[in-house]
Amino acid sequence: MTAPGEMATSQRTRMCGTLRLADTSSTVRLAGWVHRRRDLGGLVFIDLRDRSGLVQVSVDPRTADAETVQAAARAGLESVIAVEGDVTARPDKDRNADLSTGDIEVRARTLRVIGPAATPAIPVARARGEELPAEEQRLRYRYLDLRRSELQHNLILRHRIALATRRYLSERGFVEVETPILTKPTPEGARDYLVPSRVHAGEFYALPQSPQLYKQLLMMAGMDRYFQIARCFRDEDLRADRQPEFTQIDIEASFVAVPDVLEVAEGLVEAIWREGGTEIARPVPRMTYADAMERYGTDRPDLRYALELQDVSALFADTDARFIRGALESGGRVRGIRVPGATELTNRALEELESLAKSAGAAGLVRLRVEEGTFRGAMAKFLPADAVTRLNAQDGDVWLLVAGPDAVSSPALDRVRQDVARRLSLVSSSALAFVWITEFPLFLRDAATGQLTSVNHPFTAPDPRDVDRLESAPESVRALAYDIVLNGTELGGGSIRIADAELQRRIFALLGMDEAVSRARFGFLLEALGSGAPPHGGIAFGLDRIAMLLSGAGSLRDVIAFPKTTAARALFEGAPSPVPADDLRELHLRVDGAS
Ligand code: AMO
Repeated sequence: MTAPGEMATSQRTRMCGTLRLADTSSTVRLAGWVHRRRDLGGLVFIDLRDRSGLVQVSVDPRTADAETVQAAARAGLESVIAVEGDVTARPDKDRNADLSTGDIEVRARTLRVIGPAATPAIPVARARGEELPAEEQRLRYRYLDLRRSELQHNLILRHRIALATRRYLSERGFVEVETPILTKPTPEGARDYLVPSRVHAGEFYALPQSPQLYKQLLMMAGMDRYFQIARCFRDEDLRADRQPEFTQIDIEASFVAVPDVLEVAEGLVEAIWREGGTEIARPVPRMTYADAMERYGTDRPDLRYALELQDVSALFADTDARFIRGALESGGRVRGIRVPGATELTNRALEELESLAKSAGAAGLVRLRVEEGTFRGAMAKFLPADAVTRLNAQDGDVWLLVAGPDAVSSPALDRVRQDVARRLSLVSSSALAFVWITEFPLFLRDAATGQLTSVNHPFTAPDPRDVDRLESAPESVRALAYDIVLNGTELGGGSIRIADAELQRRIFALLGMDEAVSRARFGFLLEALGSGAPPHGGIAFGLDRIAMLLSGAGSLRDVIAFPKTTAARALFEGAPSPVPADDLRELHLRVDGAS
């Protein structure tokens, strides 16, 4: 980052955290916040903090002037003070190896309080091991929370990720273009945030869920390679890795096929992780969607540990267990995971795992232990005598099985697999398991309505090998789509796009949009596609998720300066909030139930 000298201003000569023994005997002017203060009967020690770190300032009543002594006595925690003083080596016994400035202190000649602080609503300095205040409090007083060095480091890391991204992509001919925030709905599968138009009564803009259509139009405009660090908005249920507004590194290129996009995207990931000080292994392994679902039950597998799913249906071919027979007869399977040497999984832990499987939709979780060469457990009697040999099961194994259709067993076993890995500490926090998931299905059928929906968005190109089955067997059609997953989190996703107006019309029709509807919603795209469209494709990464994983933060909220809560509220400024009736009237709106 910037050399300390470059951050000098008319009010300070140095940054606190940069002072070292070599600075001994120099006189410095510092400014910052009172992090801690100790008064040893006249002699006052202040840990002074700015963005660069901490330095100890001492005020000795025998040498400092009266105003300084008084200011040091008054300076409350988190006040802003200005100090002029001499950098002095600490005696050996007073050196603090935990602090980068621990070999010196600054003996104040003058000290002034320039920004007094009321008692802080939440503490900034914490004793070692002291818990953070409740997150709600931290978000309510975010300007205090952001004084913590961990959060400041996260924001600085985020800035460096953005810089590395701009550098990497610019060097490869990508041009950053801004696209509108007030726009028309783009289908990415979430609900839109709508903005009412004052000028056009009853009409609404949508905030973009992504710049998807704009970036495609830029390809049709001949821009060839586009990127944008783009703010996106999605009104969806929030989790630790989802925010209603978030940032994408959005990329699109012309005259590309899948390998071209994966190459650029991997290079970007490599450049970003290098910025964070880590070399990643390339090429990133690839796995088809079908393979991921079969082996892990999810399209976001955490590959830091094995615990692969196995199909054990054959063992139950002649079973007397009614629920298993029922599952098999209705086309389901029995799948499960073998947890080797899992003696520490207590019966209670196994019951908790069953509850987890049930909360994910499974009817139950068959739990079997292998002891003395045989399966034990309530369901063991339904297994054939040679089950241990056929499965190559070993003493100490725990087998966890779910019977049912894949749509039920996959999510249940995915949850169980992750939870077992956590319980058995199989997850190394430093491991980086990147994987590309490819060949996603193009469509899913909505169980409730029977309607086909896009797995990604409706502009994703079908795999040319499957195009002739679009109408006859749409659910079997694969898409030229890919996601990049790191340690079980989806970092980014994209696809090759439909570059042909006729094919785009067919897809809209399959999605249940008749000609009039597709014209009204996407007429501009169909026209552009018919006006000379290059083959094109791209990807978007979640910048917040990258920053979260790179910094080791537990939540997106720790890498976003002013995040929303899981209830989509901004606590410190208090949004959303009601608006006066007059403002609503001007927007041609009325709130139901309001007077
Ligand atoms: P997709 O919807 O997969 O693709 O989004 C791309 C990436 O954006 C991140 N992301 C989010 N991050 C935080 N909070 C959210 N609510 C959130 N939703 C998504 C994820 C995700 O992988 N237009 C396509 C991309 C393309 O086809 O090029 C798109 O938006 O990291």
